[in-house]
Amino acid sequence: MQNLRVNAERLWRSLMEMAGIGATAKGGVCRLTLTDLDRASRDLFIKWCREAGLAVSVDGIGNIFARRQGTDPGRPPVAFGSHLDTQPTGGKFDGALGVLAGLEVMRTLNDHGVETERPLELVSWTNEEGSRFAPPMLGSGVFCGVFKIEEAFARRDVDGKSFGEELRRIGYEGQAPARLRPIDAYFELHIEQGPVLEDEGIAIGAVTVANGQRWYDASVTGLEAHAGPTPMRRRRDALLGASRMVEAVNRIGLDHEPAACATVGFMRVMPNSRNVIPGRVDFTVDLRHPDDSRLLAMDAALRRALKEIAGPAGLALDLKELFYVPPAPFDAECVALVRAGARELGLSQRDIGSAAGHDAVYMNKVVPTAMIFVPCEGGISHNEAENISSEAAANGADVLLRAVVARAERRAGGRGPRAARH
Ligand code: GLV
Ligand code: MN
Ligand code: MN
Repeated sequence: MQNLRVNAERLWRSLMEMAGIGATAKGGVCRLTLTDLDRASRDLFIKWCREAGLAVSVDGIGNIFARRQGTDPGRPPVAFGSHLDTQPTGGKFDGALGVLAGLEVMRTLNDHGVETERPLELVSWTNEEGSRFAPPMLGSGVFCGVFKIEEAFARRDVDGKSFGEELRRIGYEGQAPARLRPIDAYFELHIEQGPVLEDEGIAIGAVTVANGQRWYDASVTGLEAHAGPTPMRRRRDALLGASRMVEAVNRIGLDHEPAACATVGFMRVMPNSRNVIPGRVDFTVDLRHPDDSRLLAMDAALRRALKEIAGPAGLALDLKELFYVPPAPFDAECVALVRAGARELGLSQRDIGSAAGHDAVYMNKVVPTAMIFVPCEGGISHNEAENISSEAAANGADVLLRAVVARAERRAGGRGPRAARH
């Protein structure tokens, strides 16, 4: 085990082949949840899992589980994974790294005939990104009991298509119950998506805590009118109001620096015609902070600021919160296994917080959980230019390998993993 290493070249080849599904001209990936491309990535993943001798099952919300039996199959498995869906202008590694490094862990254990006492389960979660269907992390959220499956199925994309219809259309409404069953621990490898590790020249982040998040849908209604005859002072321009609100959201982020983030990432203008004063604008708000009381203060500031802008402008405001996760520390024992894995490999490491959302955040509510970060180029993610080195991918996978095997062998007075007798 000491000298066991994943096959870096095979891992990179798998990442590149997966990135070919939904590849964009600019070198990124567009593989939105429950599209035909999502189906193609699932089909390829399952083919690879079966080739690795894993037993594949799909649950009612489309989460895919690939199990490697343990010497004590009755024990709850150690799970690990991430997601294969991407942002519309996403990169090759956000999500895919955690899934395919997990597969590489399984392949490496097979190559070396290593058996673990607990079974291992690799997971690919449905709709982590929340871009086509909000909120994010719906697959893990339903699995962990945060959302009812009916709520998830009822979510609609901008074209009005429902999550449930689309899941069925791509053939991934599985038979396994989409609910928590005994799982010993969960690990997720992910690119950092920020600049800290790269700036400091550090190979591995042991993720100790995840930021809290609040997501909102906002709608501003004014009065559609002719862009010519309507005098400036008589207008109730919904886009003008929404623009001021975007400025206010940004201000809230700045007011709670350095840890806060506040973003308007989506806007729909109606009727979106150059000579009509916009009558309605829908937009989203994404607030994040590692301290729950500060996040709540940001929520109050948002409600106040939007109201203060809407009222005097004669605009009606509808603001709905649709997603909230409080900040949460990861499991100390699992984080310690990540640190120990990096140490054993002689890799530089530091503790780090996650400012992005991950399926691990929901798993962490119900199962001992930890995350591993590796650096990404320029700290850039949710961008087609997102990039990592093959070495970073392999480092992360090697740490994941050590953490899951150590956990799978954990017991009072524990033993090491055994090589199979040939
Ligand atoms: C998920 O990618 C997020 O928004 O953090
Ligand atoms: Mn991700
Ligand atoms: Mn993402």
